[in-house]
Amino acid sequence: MYRKGIILAGGKGTRLYPTTKALPKCLLPVYDKPMIYYSVSTLMLAGIREILVITTPSDRERVNTLLGDGKKWGIDIVYKVQDQPRGIADALIIAEEFINKTPCALMLGDNIFHGPELQSKLTHAYSSNNNTIFAYEVPDPERFGICELNAEDKVISIEEKPSVPKSNLCVTGLYFYDEHASEVASNIEPSARGELEITDVNKTYMKQENLYAQVLDQGYTWMDAGTVESFLEASLFVKSVEQQIRIKISCPEEIAFNNKWIDVDRVKMIAGDLSNSPYSDYLLNIIKN
Ligand code: DAU
Repeated sequence: MYRKGIILAGGKGTRLYPTTKALPKCLLPVYDKPMIYYSVSTLMLAGIREILVITTPSDRERVNTLLGDGKKWGIDIVYKVQDQPRGIADALIIAEEFINKTPCALMLGDNIFHGPELQSKLTHAYSSNNNTIFAYEVPDPERFGICELNAEDKVISIEEKPSVPKSNLCVTGLYFYDEHASEVASNIEPSARGELEITDVNKTYMKQENLYAQVLDQGYTWMDAGTVESFLEASLFVKSVEQQIRIKISCPEEIAFNNKWIDVDRVKMIAGDLSNSPYSDYLLNIIKN
C-alpha cells in the first residue's frame, strides 16, 4: 500500500486576527516550532513521504521558505494554492492530479495530535483498506463534526456541528481515504454555509459502509490551534509535555532519523543551520544517543 499526504493550510486565520493579518497561521509558533511542523510530522509518523501542502496564494512563498522541497527530511513536498476557502473537501479536488488515484491522508494545518500509541494507530490507518477517521471525545460537540460508532468502530452517523449532538465523539482533522477521494469530493454540493464539507465526503464513505474510526481515548491529546485560546493552550501543552518527558512532540528531523530516511550527517547539517537554538541542541542530542 502506498499513500500520499495532503496538508490543508489555507484559510485566512480570521479567528486569530490581528496576528494573522500579515503572518500565515501555519507558520506561527506552537511553543518551540511552527504550527505546520505538527501536521508534517503526523503524516511522517504514519509513514508518508510524499506531501502536497495547500496554502493561500499569499502564504505560499513563506511556507516554501520554511519547508522547501522536503529533501532535508527525506521526503518530497510540493505546493498548490487554494484561492478561496471553498471548504476542507476542496483540498481533495485541488489535490486530484497529485493524488493520481492513490490512497491519501488529508490533515488540517492547525491540528495537533499526541499520545502513547499514536504511531501504531497512524501506521495501521496507513496500511488499512478501510477509510479511517480519528475520533476524540470533546465537551463541546456543537462545534465539530460529530460521529456515532457501532461495536466494530464503524461510523454509523456523522453530522457537521449538530445542534442536538448524538455523541461527544468529534471527527478530528485527519482523514485517511482510498483512491477515490477526489472523485467523491467532486460529487458533493456546497453546504448551507457555502463550503464543500469534509463531513459530506465522510457521509458518502459511510453510506458505502466503508468508514471506520480510530478512537483516541483519554491517554491522547488532540487540539486544533485555530482560536486565540486553543493556540495558547497548544503551546502550553507542548511546553509541559516536552519538559516532563524531554522528548519533542512532532520533531520532523527526529521522525525522519528514526525512520532511517535521513542519516547522522543530515541531522548534523540541519542542527548547524539552526545553531544557537535549543532546537539545534536537541537535534545534536538525538544523534549522540
Ligand atoms: O477541527 C476539526 C473540525 O474541522 C471537524 O470536526 C469538522 O468536521 C470540520 O468541518 C472542521 O471544522 P471547522 O468548521 O472548525 O473548520 P475550519 O473552517 O476552522 O477549518 C479548519 C482548518 O482548515 C483551518 O485551519 C483553515 C483550513 N481551511 C478551511 C477551509 C474551510 C482551509 O485551508 N481552506 C478552507 O476552505
